[in-house]
Amino acid sequence: MKQIPMLDLKLEYDYMKKDIDGAIQTCLDHQRWIFGPEVKALEDRIAEYLGAKHCIGACSGTESLVLSLRALAIKIKGEEFFDKSDEILTTSFTFTATGDAILRSGATPVFVDIDPETYNIDTGKIAEYCAANTNVVGIMPVHLYGQTCDMTAIMELAGKHNLFIVEDVAQAFGGGWKDKKLGTIGDAGAFSFFPSKNLGGFGDGGVVATNDDTTAEVLRMLIKHGGKDKYNVDHVGYNARLDTLQAAIVGAKLKYIDEFNGRRKKIAEAYTVGLKDVAGIVLPEKIADADHVFHQYTVRVLDGKRDELQSALKEKGVSTMIYYPFPLHKMKVFGSGRSKSFGSLENSEAATQSVLSLPMEPLQSEESTRYVISNVQEHLA
Ligand SMILES: Cc1ncc(COP(=O)(O)O)c(C=O)c1O
Repeated sequence: MKQIPMLDLKLEYDYMKKDIDGAIQTCLDHQRWIFGPEVKALEDRIAEYLGAKHCIGACSGTESLVLSLRALAIKIKGEEFFDKSDEILTTSFTFTATGDAILRSGATPVFVDIDPETYNIDTGKIAEYCAANTNVVGIMPVHLYGQTCDMTAIMELAGKHNLFIVEDVAQAFGGGWKDKKLGTIGDAGAFSFFPSKNLGGFGDGGVVATNDDTTAEVLRMLIKHGGKDKYNVDHVGYNARLDTLQAAIVGAKLKYIDEFNGRRKKIAEAYTVGLKDVAGIVLPEKIADADHVFHQYTVRVLDGKRDELQSALKEKGVSTMIYYPFPLHKMKVFGSGRSKSFGSLENSEAATQSVLSLPMEPLQSEESTRYVISNVQEHLA
């Protein structure tokens, strides 16, 4: 039977083998494993690609989020951490790390519901919350599945209420809003190089983009124990450097990012054309100002039939994933008064019950895409 994986990293490695092997060999030859030349080279290339003033490599996407928030606490409050009365708005329908980073920065995450069409934070709800609450210090929008949040509305609210914005760009490297790349619109943008990400390494890694000199300077201290001199430090820091080898591998893959995001969009287009008349599923929304890079192609399966469709596809060799089965506000870690929820979060809860991500391997054949489409059609017919 045909097997269609969600992603095929071996296929991608074979496609880029010469570049990746060459980059690794260079590291083996120079043996400069901590802050090797590949780290600065990658930071500079990503800064240029994104149109950001600074990029600072970090050891993961999660740490990139924490580092961004910590740097902003130091810059804005003059304190090492936020405190519990400082509220940061984000969505409950995301990976745990988004909310966890807020907890680790000392602030209180306030979960706001999502727009059911885009799965991203509902900016109307942000406006409502901010109008009635004065403890909000920032917003952490998540560009989920590679789909762009409404950054125009978010930046307007930030201006109106004097809030900072940290974009969670873990799933959207190369995506855009109007003429800007994601991660460069707010005060900082945190990216992940987790292997399955659309720009992934061969282990953990990440990068923070910022246009602000002070934030960049503090970030550079925080990633290496909190000081310019690691033997005499200023801040409560981390060992959160981007590894030289990961920088080399991500650097080799960066050359392919536009091609691969383009391939993702073509597969997404094929899914949309093939599935548009199928009753019982809702396809991803197209937004005029957004450059959606389709980290995932996620459909909503109606009438409680999601799990049934997932099992049927599995029987036909088609892998699918549920991102995410639990909303953050229902997790123990966000209980015990550590977070707040604004309103019912019913759209977030409904999404956890209905979303299904289809295979999205940039190198998957047209035949494989057709196979996925025909099996979805067949099951829901
Ligand atoms: C939305 C989101 N935020 C943050 C992260 C954390 O990134 P990492 O796994 O590199 O720590 C991920 C990915 O895992 C993610 O999908």
